[in-house]
Amino acid sequence: MTEKRVPAVGIDLGTTHSVVAYLDNEGRPTTIHNSEGGITTPSVVFFDETGPVVGKEAARTAAFEPELIAQFAKRDIGAAAYKKKVAGNTLPPEVVEAIILRKLKEDAELILGEINDVVITVPAYFNEPRRKATQDAGELAGFNVLDIINEPTAAALAYGVLQNFSPSGESVEGKETVLVYDLGGGTFDATLMELNGSQFTAIATAGDVHLGGIDWDKRIFEYVSAQFVEKFQLDPREDDSAAERLRQSAEVAKMALTVRNVYKIHSEYEGKRLRLDLTREKFQELTQDLVERTLFTIRRMLKEASRNWEDITRILLVGGSTRMPMVIEALEAESGVVVNRSLSPDEAVAHGAAVYANFVLASQRNEDTDLLVQNVNSHDLGVLAVEASTGMPRRKILIPKNSALPAKGSGSFKTRDENQQTIAVNVIEGGDASGRNSTKIGACVVSDLPENLPEKTAVEVEFKYLENGRLKVDANIPGTDVQATLEIERAAGLSEEKMEYWANWISEGAILIPVEAVVEEFEEIEQEAAASPDEEIDFTGAEETAPFEPAEQVADEAEEEEEQGIKADGFFSAEPESEDAGDGLEGLVTDESEPQGDVGPDDSGLADFFKDLQS
Ligand SMILES: Nc1ncnc2c1ncn2[C@@H]1O[C@H](COP(=O)(O)OP(=O)(O)OP(=O)(O)O)[C@@H](O)[C@H]1O
Ligand SMILES: [Mg+2]
Repeated sequence: MTEKRVPAVGIDLGTTHSVVAYLDNEGRPTTIHNSEGGITTPSVVFFDETGPVVGKEAARTAAFEPELIAQFAKRDIGAAAYKKKVAGNTLPPEVVEAIILRKLKEDAELILGEINDVVITVPAYFNEPRRKATQDAGELAGFNVLDIINEPTAAALAYGVLQNFSPSGESVEGKETVLVYDLGGGTFDATLMELNGSQFTAIATAGDVHLGGIDWDKRIFEYVSAQFVEKFQLDPREDDSAAERLRQSAEVAKMALTVRNVYKIHSEYEGKRLRLDLTREKFQELTQDLVERTLFTIRRMLKEASRNWEDITRILLVGGSTRMPMVIEALEAESGVVVNRSLSPDEAVAHGAAVYANFVLASQRNEDTDLLVQNVNSHDLGVLAVEASTGMPRRKILIPKNSALPAKGSGSFKTRDENQQTIAVNVIEGGDASGRNSTKIGACVVSDLPENLPEKTAVEVEFKYLENGRLKVDANIPGTDVQATLEIERAAGLSEEKMEYWANWISEGAILIPVEAVVEEFEEIEQEAAASPDEEIDFTGAEETAPFEPAEQVADEAEEEEEQGIKADGFFSAEPESEDAGDGLEGLVTDESEPQGDVGPDDSGLADFFKDLQS
């Protein structure tokens, strides 16, 4: 009798919806229904008094109790805190994501029995801190996170594998160059992949971590709000509940306009009611630039990869927002390729993650598998140094984005001062030539340098970036035995103590005590105390009810880290890459017009949207 194996699951942890899948006995990717019977679970948490409620009921409650709701947390993952306080409490985004993952785990266990191993998907364009925080969320939820995988890669895997089960029998033959266009609720990813039988090779990836269906909703939301103000001189955006109701109606209208030409959208606030005929034409006019943005990103990616639209043999659509006719039309007009809609836009990513999870398990057991998945890094990796001639920060790229993983890169630097005691190699990701908008992902410190080293002593730095996202940094001074090694297992997220604290909090039921209620409780107690001064009052309980860091503290920590980063910059000076570069500047960066980190052009507007909605 063969031993019964505990299945591994794949989870698509989406901005708006999440999906869990596993491989059935025949190896067919299968979506697991949640306990409400849905194949997707809204990524929304409602912090009820008795504990968190995740999914459909939470999404419904959002319009009535917005202060107890956390949604779209994926947009903030990698940051210190979720964008708004929930019942007055500051929560790390990975904690919100962990609560969602825990619900998915519990529901999946009703069907599969106990599960531990998981692969979670992330947008290909996620940077290291976002990847790390996603992994942490999985651990906080009680999973053993086998790996994370890029969403478009997962979709391509699902496509490749599903062909074997497809009734049309159409299988991937020969080499194909596939563009995966993934437009979900909150993120956009474009990835160019080569598919060759069971080999999946990423060539290039690009994206926008702040562009998705909710931005389309926002345009309708703003348009209707403006009409409301014009008609009634009242603004539904001023009230959290009214704003959330209108946001939800905007999404319903958008989805209706996928199949209809006109939709009557209603908006109610302070007893006033607006009914508006929204046509598909008007909707498309309001949002055309968003589709353009996705095309712009793809054009840039193709150019960077030295490819043309003619090189693409297939376009796979993934993500709920690719149902919008305007997306399909724009993409077909641009590419001249008829898009392939054979994948389920909601399930493909989770299916691919399930395939990959089983592949990882098989590899761990040294079982034969012919699957080959090769990834690229989505952001430049480099060192932030100081330019010798000006004293200004300068970035030097050691591993350019879209390098096939594993990748290696090295660079030469010099010490800045005479008799320098320590060197800090600041490792950064993305950003521009002077390091602006880059993400600091760690520092490799070389200490105990020999006495009296002259200034401008050579320092060699080498990066090794492995498939699993681990970056190894080596720094050494040639001719001496001085060296330091740093292994960054993805950028630092929550500290070990904080992970433990939140893991306990979650396993004890994740009960959120409204901070206002604590204050009220205090006031009540104080009033009582004032009324009957002789009575002894126990305050301890009330004090313990707010085990959360105040927002200020989180902000302080971030600032502190930043300061440290700036201080450490001073240790280093960059060397010109080629001897004849002369001024110490040339050769450090190649392309001044490269994308500026993760910040999309419309980012600030979006921040306002959420501030409007939720602050
Ligand atoms: N029929 C439809 N017409 C238009 N938009 C739709 C339709 N169905 C779903 N959507 C949109 O698709 C989005 C959700 O897609 P999906 O579930 O793929 O995203 P996600 O996985 O939550 O987000 P992400 O992948 O960006 O993290 C929502 O914005 C939703 O409004
Ligand atoms: Mg998605």
